[in-house]
Amino acid sequence: INHLVTPSRFPIFALRSMTAKELIRRDVSLRELNTFGVVARARLLAEVRTPAQVQSLLGEVEGLEVRVLGGGSNVLLRSDVEGVVLLNRIPGIEVVRRSGSTVWVAAGGGVNWHGLVEWTLEHGLSGLENLSLIPGTVGAAPIQNIGAYGVELCEVFEALEAVELSTGRCRTFSAEECAFAYRDSIFKRGEKGRWVITRVVLRLSTEPCLNLSYGAIQDTLREMGVRRPTPRDVNRAVIRIRRSKLPDPARLGNTGSFFKNPELAPETYQTLQQRHPDLPGYPLPNGRVKVPAAWLIERAGWKGRREGTVGCHGRQPLVIVHFGGGTGEAIWTFAQRVQRSVEERFGIRLQPEVNLW
Ligand code: EPU
Repeated sequence: INHLVTPSRFPIFALRSMTAKELIRRDVSLRELNTFGVVARARLLAEVRTPAQVQSLLGEVEGLEVRVLGGGSNVLLRSDVEGVVLLNRIPGIEVVRRSGSTVWVAAGGGVNWHGLVEWTLEHGLSGLENLSLIPGTVGAAPIQNIGAYGVELCEVFEALEAVELSTGRCRTFSAEECAFAYRDSIFKRGEKGRWVITRVVLRLSTEPCLNLSYGAIQDTLREMGVRRPTPRDVNRAVIRIRRSKLPDPARLGNTGSFFKNPELAPETYQTLQQRHPDLPGYPLPNGRVKVPAAWLIERAGWKGRREGTVGCHGRQPLVIVHFGGGTGEAIWTFAQRVQRSVEERFGIRLQPEVNLW
């Protein structure tokens, strides 16, 4: 794995053009840097474009708390950030290895995720088509093991390279070391807030390896008149589904799903289903049953409901939307109200999927 992630394209001398001190800006607005569009400020902010810049910045701000921001599409800013915001803008996409039909592609942590998906499709590679149009950056993708339409990042993940915030040391993590699970990894648990992910290596294929298990994909392909889908067709179908259901953060502040879909013990699910016969449930390989949070929120009466500057989206209530002019705290208060209401009605405590700052 190591030879795959050695950052050969990121030469140290790139740093010399700008010193760590010059990278740092003071009292910076974060409004354009979070997709909720919340007004908040960072006391210090530095945009980094190479792993070496990350290291030299860390040396410069030693002793201060550093938080890493990618696309700002999975974070709720509850207040101003007192420490340093490190804006990961490390670029670059390249093929690092080929073997038969397998192609390993490495991308910088700051690369736009959907940009990478499009790049792979343009280069005839399959594996990421179901993950089209997910907002955010490559470096953030492994943290919550992004997933959509039957595919999770961990299925194509090879390895990542990261810099430790407290020491500046570089390290490689294999898939196993990342301990991926549903919307989860070691970077949301024991290693939370400790690393900047500078590079991710994915394992893709020149042979189409389509996952059409999600009903909506098949329905949409049919609507599109596609009989024998290619990866590009699946990409178009996913884009169509997402655009029809999910609000565009450029127009209406949101961070996609606000909560995770809860996974229940089978007995809990059965008891609930007796009281609510139409409660959907998807059995998991581990024996537990995944229940759609959107259903619970809708039944608790929140679908399309707005309170002041915040609300639950009318087409997908799992998405909390910010209509503008509100604060991060107002969004959090609203989210907690939804959480309490679902808990009172169903006895299930929804867990936020979004990171709270
Ligand atoms: N549902 C309702 N009412 C609604 C909408 C949905 O009851 O208004 C129920 C239905 O039972 C439906 C089920 O929710 O069958 C699933 O809905 P959907 O297909 O929209 O998916 P989801 O479970 O709500 C998850 C991800 C999304 C991802 C989609 C598609 C989580 C937390 N969310 O949503 O990810 O795009 O599946 O795979 O797992 C994100 O993480 O930000 C995100 C958008």
